[in-house]
Amino acid sequence: MEDFKFDGTTRLPVAYVEGILQPTPTCDIWDQIWNFQAKSDDLLIATYPKAGTTWTQEIVDLIQNEGDADKSQRAPIHERIPFIEWIIPSIGSGLERANEMPSPRTLKTHLPIHLLPPSFIEKNCKIIYVARNPKDNMVSYYHFQRMNKSLPAPGTWEEYFENFLAGKVCWGSWYDHVKGWWKAKDQHRILYLFYEDLKKNTKHEIQKVAEFIGKNLDDEILDKIVHHTSFDVMKQNPMSNYSSVPAKIMNHSVSPFMRKGIVGDWKNHFTVAQNERFNEDYKKKMADTNLTFHFQFS
Ligand code: A3P
Repeated sequence: MEDFKFDGTTRLPVAYVEGILQPTPTCDIWDQIWNFQAKSDDLLIATYPKAGTTWTQEIVDLIQNEGDADKSQRAPIHERIPFIEWIIPSIGSGLERANEMPSPRTLKTHLPIHLLPPSFIEKNCKIIYVARNPKDNMVSYYHFQRMNKSLPAPGTWEEYFENFLAGKVCWGSWYDHVKGWWKAKDQHRILYLFYEDLKKNTKHEIQKVAEFIGKNLDDEILDKIVHHTSFDVMKQNPMSNYSSVPAKIMNHSVSPFMRKGIVGDWKNHFTVAQNERFNEDYKKKMADTNLTFHFQFS
């Protein structure tokens, strides 16, 4: 893999790490990721891919900067908050970026709880987890894999639907991911949030995040943060819309990173038969948890 030069004409290959599919550059440095040394003042944002990670990153960064949008313009979001297991040869490594970063650090991961580098728990780091209903999550991930050449091509929607249900996508099964982190929140300092709540009650959820990270912000600052992290503002913001990533990796003309940002878009993708099949499968896989999701706003 060391000789691999990512030129965007092909996709990165994937392989399994502990049963979880990952791009091979991540597999190649897995020992280094697993042995990542977290520090006690690190803040970690953990999500299943496409659950609203970037939105949460932008919210956290603005909270830390007390609503000063100019400070949040200092660098693209993936540089401000490194993605620890992300690496594209000759382009960038989240691990290296994290290791070089001065404290206090805010970091990002998509790893399921059982693959989280143990030092995060040993050091009792604060963790914010965000989950999104699986139907919208699946649709968003499908379009993301269409535009992002560092992940496998998604195939047809029908093929993708089956692969997602079977957990045959990078970072593994959505079900195992959200349930694993849900269980972990009872033992560790984890704030568990939902994309749908962020959408419906943005200011309240931002306030919750601020409290969790120990920032007391007045109403005016909270309103500023609501504004700067709205979908429309973030879509226009080159520091949060991923337009700074080379087009050979992310091709926004195939599907923009800031795509729709809504709850219920799955209805434009799922057939009636797929919805029935999904609901049946969901009932089985979620029978052993009290975790629930909103799939639409009434
Ligand atoms: P859609 O593809 O459904 O539009 P992640 O950051 O985890 O990759 O998630 C990306 C998803 O979050 C995309 O969903 C994106 O549009 C949505 N998103 C990003 N910023 C948002 C915001 N400010 N408000 C609502 N949705 C947002």
